[in-house]
Amino acid sequence: MRISRLSKEEIRKKYDSFSKMYDYSEIFFNLFIGRARRKMISKASGKVLEIGIGTGSNIKYYPYNCTLTGIDLSEGMLNIARRKAEKLGKKLNLIKGDAENLPFKNGEFDYVIDTLGLCTYPDPIKALKEMKRVCRKSGRILLLEHGASNSKFVRRLQARRESKQYSLIGCHLMRNPEELVGKAGFKIASCERKFSGIFYIIEAGV
Ligand SMILES: C[S@@+](CC[C@H](N)C(=O)[O-])C[C@H]1O[C@@H](n2cnc3c(N)ncnc32)[C@H](O)[C@@H]1O
Repeated sequence: MRISRLSKEEIRKKYDSFSKMYDYSEIFFNLFIGRARRKMISKASGKVLEIGIGTGSNIKYYPYNCTLTGIDLSEGMLNIARRKAEKLGKKLNLIKGDAENLPFKNGEFDYVIDTLGLCTYPDPIKALKEMKRVCRKSGRILLLEHGASNSKFVRRLQARRESKQYSLIGCHLMRNPEELVGKAGFKIASCERKFSGIFYIIEAGV
């Protein structure tokens, strides 16, 4: 089935409307990746940028000594992240903006993090190149993404669901984050796959 491409404005609107429900879907997701989130995010230190921060599912895992900036297209998602940070007593800078055109200088951050975002950006390689640009040369990129499974059976189910999922929330099920990271020119330090290879936990240098 042909999928008509959503504009960024349409994606933003979808996440604005979905924002109040998002954390319910997260309960399900976190059964699979809650521990992986915690393990990955607790590695961050110094000046940290989280792209597509959403409702701030990772905020609670950041060490208190991080200086955290979060960016997202959707004001609705950011409002929930803001409230979460306040409750946790965590200071952070939240900005409405586009992953593909980051409003930051070259090499500004020690860590750049993205969880479950690459599936949604219209041009994920452009977004990855932006992550690379704003990360300092000895910095780290940490990604926890979902994508095409390495099981033929699961991949077939994902392919069947792809167009429905995309029109619902602008999310692609069949992308391969490891390949995308390679194409964007990163040095991949590690890539772990979980749950039939649906989840990709990637650490890369710039
Ligand atoms: C599936 S949610 C993931 C949220 C969060 N990272 C998490 O792990 O729960 C995808 C997020 O990416 C944001 N997003 C989509 N396109 C974007 C873009 N071009 N620039 C910045 N954020 C974007 C959405 O608004 C949404 O908050």
